[in-house]
Amino acid sequence: MQVKLSNGKIIPIEMHKIKIVQKARLAPIGERLTAIEGAGYNTFLLRTRDVFLDMLTDSGTNAMSDNQLAAMMVADDAYAGGESYYKLLDSVREVLGFEFCLPTHQGRAAEHLLAKVFVKPGDQIPMNYHFTTTKAHFELCGGTVHEIFCDGALETTSTNQFKGNIDLNKLKALIEKYGPKKISFVRMECTTNLIGGQPFAMGNLREVSAMARKNGIPVVIDTSLVSENAYFIKRREKGYENKSIGEIIKEMMSYADLTYMSGRKSTCVRGGLIATNDKTFFNRVREWLPVYEGFLTYGGMSSKEVEAMAVGMREMCEYEVASSSADLIQYFVDQMVEAGLPAVTPAGGLAGHLDAMKFLPHIPQSQYPAGCLAAAVYLVSGARPMERGTVSMDRDKNGNDVFSDIELARLAVPRRVYTMAHMEYVVDRLKWLMAHRDLVAGLKFVEEPPVLRFFFGRLAPLGDWGSKLAAAFKADFGDAC
Ligand SMILES: Cc1ncc(COP(=O)(O)O)c(C=O)c1O
Repeated sequence: MQVKLSNGKIIPIEMHKIKIVQKARLAPIGERLTAIEGAGYNTFLLRTRDVFLDMLTDSGTNAMSDNQLAAMMVADDAYAGGESYYKLLDSVREVLGFEFCLPTHQGRAAEHLLAKVFVKPGDQIPMNYHFTTTKAHFELCGGTVHEIFCDGALETTSTNQFKGNIDLNKLKALIEKYGPKKISFVRMECTTNLIGGQPFAMGNLREVSAMARKNGIPVVIDTSLVSENAYFIKRREKGYENKSIGEIIKEMMSYADLTYMSGRKSTCVRGGLIATNDKTFFNRVREWLPVYEGFLTYGGMSSKEVEAMAVGMREMCEYEVASSSADLIQYFVDQMVEAGLPAVTPAGGLAGHLDAMKFLPHIPQSQYPAGCLAAAVYLVSGARPMERGTVSMDRDKNGNDVFSDIELARLAVPRRVYTMAHMEYVVDRLKWLMAHRDLVAGLKFVEEPPVLRFFFGRLAPLGDWGSKLAAAFKADFGDAC
């Protein structure tokens, strides 16, 4: 939540108390250099013992509530018919308004099942923007992903409050071009991850849904960050100021025929699910659930996580929970902008993002500026970002790099984990890096998996820029930082 201080300054205030803590360690710069070299300049390959602030992702890294932890203690570990599932089902019915629920071990497992059931070779899947695993699953089944985002969605400095909107003219043109039968479904992602966690407006969702349904095309919402998208609708869209987060989520879901989520985000657990009111969809997905995930009543999740998800689903409807990371991200982004850093604006739902092409304008996309920035940020701060640019795109059929629309280094802000002091520390180190950015050069792949290469790929610096940057840092801050 935000509060205004007597001097007029607005700050994010924690609406929770911290009861359990995990010790953090800031490895000195020399150790960080060894660690990033050992990780092939890929922040995914760092060990957490070398990471001070883990800002790689908000996925599965959020602090759970006392009620979620308590619920885990009463989990029913039955293979079939476990009571924990029925608690989750009650929450899904109450919060999302869907009758049927299929748990999965995480979000991409839900995507896998949806791809298996809905996507045939030659199918087209329009969406506001792709997510890495979403695209991989749909393409592996022979589908083509179309990103039909609104004008200005890719402008990293913007005042557009809803860069996650779909362009209705593009949707209409796609339906006319391919015909409704070739379109598996229209996918709307809550706070489009890869373009800076940007939300869509309820008005846009309503119109997208009306057009799709008129043509007999199902609407699928990726609700991984539904709580945050609902919060932005409440804060930014006229007519929703006085609606509760729960009411907004319910209305969003009324425009969908099916939803799936990574429960690792808004519900703060390690799991996922698919939910729908359509019995045929439910039955078609259920056929495959035991093959890939597990029996219906746990779907690959531990029953402890199923219990915690039932609680997290209700808690994400609380204003204090929905706003918890969004308001800290807003503060973080405001601080970055004030410091003259090229942060993505408006602030989004899962992270503070830096535009790497503006931060490192001397590094061409062929040398992976977002990867360079992510590695450099780790080196100078111990905070671990994630590359969200060309490294996160796989090569085309001819082996050429596919340049990403935008090159971002993402500093995720997991819910209820970090504080204002952490944000200020990171901004300070980013300012230092900006002043020394000429020391940073490009990267090249030395080991490269063919699919989702960003997870395990290893890169090497062009020139020994890691050591030079570390030496400059040491000269200013000494060995200990
Ligand atoms: C929007 C979105 N959809 C799907 C996924 C995949 O979920 P998971 O990581 O639980 O497999 C993610 C993960 O970050 C995501 O952000």
